[in-house]
Amino acid sequence: MPRSELRARDSLERHAGLRVDGARLLRCLDELAAIGSDPAGGITRLGLSPQEHAARTYLRDLCAAAGLEAETDPAGNLLVRRPGTPRRAVPVLLVGSHVDTVVQGGRLDGAYGVVAAIEVLRVLHEHDVDLPVEMVAVAFANEEGALIQTPFWGSHALCGSLEDGLAAKDRAGRPVSAYLAQTGGDPDRLAEAAWPPGSVAAFLELHIEQGPTLERLGVPIGVVDGIVGRTILDIEVVGEAQHAGTTPMRDRRDALVAAAEIILAVQRVAAEQGVCATATTGYVEAHPNVTNTITGHVRLTAEVRDTDPDRIARGEAAVRAECAQVAAASGCAVEVEIGMRSRPVSTAGPLRDVIREAAETLDLPHLTMPSGAGHDAQIVARVAPIGMIFVPSKQGVSHAPGEDTAPGDLVHGTNVLLHAVLGAQTAVGLHGDHVGDV
Ligand code: GLV
Ligand code: MN
Ligand code: MN
Repeated sequence: MPRSELRARDSLERHAGLRVDGARLLRCLDELAAIGSDPAGGITRLGLSPQEHAARTYLRDLCAAAGLEAETDPAGNLLVRRPGTPRRAVPVLLVGSHVDTVVQGGRLDGAYGVVAAIEVLRVLHEHDVDLPVEMVAVAFANEEGALIQTPFWGSHALCGSLEDGLAAKDRAGRPVSAYLAQTGGDPDRLAEAAWPPGSVAAFLELHIEQGPTLERLGVPIGVVDGIVGRTILDIEVVGEAQHAGTTPMRDRRDALVAAAEIILAVQRVAAEQGVCATATTGYVEAHPNVTNTITGHVRLTAEVRDTDPDRIARGEAAVRAECAQVAAASGCAVEVEIGMRSRPVSTAGPLRDVIREAAETLDLPHLTMPSGAGHDAQIVARVAPIGMIFVPSKQGVSHAPGEDTAPGDLVHGTNVLLHAVLGAQTAVGLHGDHVGDV
């Protein structure tokens, strides 16, 4: 057995009784939840906004006070290391998630995985645990893409897969460079955020499930086997703005009515035709948005998801066909552009085993399950093996103010993460084993 593996096995045995500080974890989650708290409900801490920056600053200060080294990279990712951890010279075990939210989102989506990763790093530091493969905690910037329309921004930047990054902008056309410069990043050095190939030995992400399965079955730990892929279509409908009282019904080109037909068709693609797992319109913007004027112009989105890339492609084609049909019937012009494509991925078998063993060490039942939500892990899967741990979401609520998880489950999940980090030491060097795209 190689010496590093012996070291890792020894460390695993010696630290079997190690546990995270649950009260500290929950306190940190509460403090983080105050940043970006939205008077209208939930948390609005959009990627690369001042609120996300404030969240990263809060975590950076907390890490510094705990004796850890925290820095923000040019893409706005927060990276946290134990003192003395080599920078980029040797592969590390990367662990984390994101701290940005959707508009009026919840307190745990992403934030939980980051706070838990920092808690694990603190415990390893306090107990001076010897890790052959050092752990680095990460808060990826702008996972949601709610403000700057590039979801997975930070993980793409770190993995070197950010294409034409500086072309990213918000819906009003303000470029990402303006946001980056004000939120701790550096648009002039964006390319330096990319880690050299081979720098990530493996990636672990702990996350709330965001769906109802674990709670319904009464199982505290999910072992994720695959993550859905997604295509976002940006749709523009152009009709004619006209007087709502004087324009005869037959003479109208009402862009909002055409958009409504598209929205219903998008829903049918998944719900009735079963072309792909889900299909959703979540964004609609109507102009001039006036009670007594026929709508002249609508921008909306459709997103389709599935674990099978062919079904995603068929979902996209079906939405495009529906848009063409609505255009022909309504007389409105309908343009469709691709906003983003993410690929479905599998997690790595050896890391799934490591997570199961960690749960068993802690006497926690576990369930192997897919993720219907997207995660930074699926971007990191392009460069390294990934593992994902889920904990139950109360009533399956997520991307909404009511998002919650029982405190005990949050602590259980973080202990599983701690033991998965220890267990992964014997499994890293997994590069050749990594499953990647399905
Ligand atoms: C990520 O939050 C997603 O939309 O799945
Ligand atoms: Mn989310
Ligand atoms: Mn998330």
